[in-house]
Amino acid sequence: MTEVRVFCPATIANVSCGFDVLGLCLDAVGDEMIIRKVDTPGVTITKITGQHLPLETDKNVAGVAALALLNAVQSNDGFEIEIHKKIKAGSGIGSSAASAAGAVFGINELLDNPFTKKELIAFAAEGEKIASGVVHADNVAPALLGGFTLVRSCQPLDVVSIPVPDELVAVVIHPQIEIRTQDARAVLKSTIPLKKAITQWGNLGALVAALYSNDYELLSRSLHDEIIEPHRSVLIPGFDAIKKASLQEGALGCGISGSGPSVFALTRGEQTAKKVAMRMAAIYQEFDVAHDIHISPINTKGTILI
Ligand code: HSE
Repeated sequence: MTEVRVFCPATIANVSCGFDVLGLCLDAVGDEMIIRKVDTPGVTITKITGQHLPLETDKNVAGVAALALLNAVQSNDGFEIEIHKKIKAGSGIGSSAASAAGAVFGINELLDNPFTKKELIAFAAEGEKIASGVVHADNVAPALLGGFTLVRSCQPLDVVSIPVPDELVAVVIHPQIEIRTQDARAVLKSTIPLKKAITQWGNLGALVAALYSNDYELLSRSLHDEIIEPHRSVLIPGFDAIKKASLQEGALGCGISGSGPSVFALTRGEQTAKKVAMRMAAIYQEFDVAHDIHISPINTKGTILI
């Protein structure tokens, strides 16, 4: 095999109460990458469609992630990468993570899989670092593995896959503005009051328990973010109205997707998801905010060959 075509899915990081640790994988939106084994050693990004992103290997998340993997296997092989972006950069649904995940997944396949998917997370996270300035694996882990993932620790990397309740559906609305993760991190405080921390870890623990036990009511009670959302939501047009309307339409919860500006809601079943999506879209029409909207089951496969 000298060429692979890869689907690299979008993801929702944080999922309200799990800042930098929790993430889930989407099915309805993702990038495609073509990766070829070539004679010239190293990694060359030959083409990017859909977005203006750097072609220089050391400035591109896919390139940096690929080099991290090749460095670990001490390989002199050469690879060319084509990236076809469907996920907009700065949208909050893991655009850079998808590129990083796709690159390491594809190269690993062409090398005959020296690493498990879980082991690839560390290399993809190296790529992510150039997009956000810090190592966080809450997008790359679900992008590679699918489903819900919890990053217990980044160094050393310790990632737990969490079961996905069958009827869970995600709605994501993306107002057409760009928020760089670095900027969205800059608005955060570096310390938090103990009382808020207690509420947050109560919610996070309960959310994980709800996913294991298919308890949609507990899931709904847990989807709150006392720490990050108050600081970041002011950057997102109409956030409060979108959230209120989603909950009125029966969403289990609604919050900021990753570092925004996308807003997500989780629902039980597709019927409710459609109602939530319609209300979200109606609000942005009223506010005259251009947007994309996606309704997606939770993708339990992650990055795959196509
Ligand atoms: N956990 C990261 C953040 C995700 O919220 O900054 C970035 O997509």
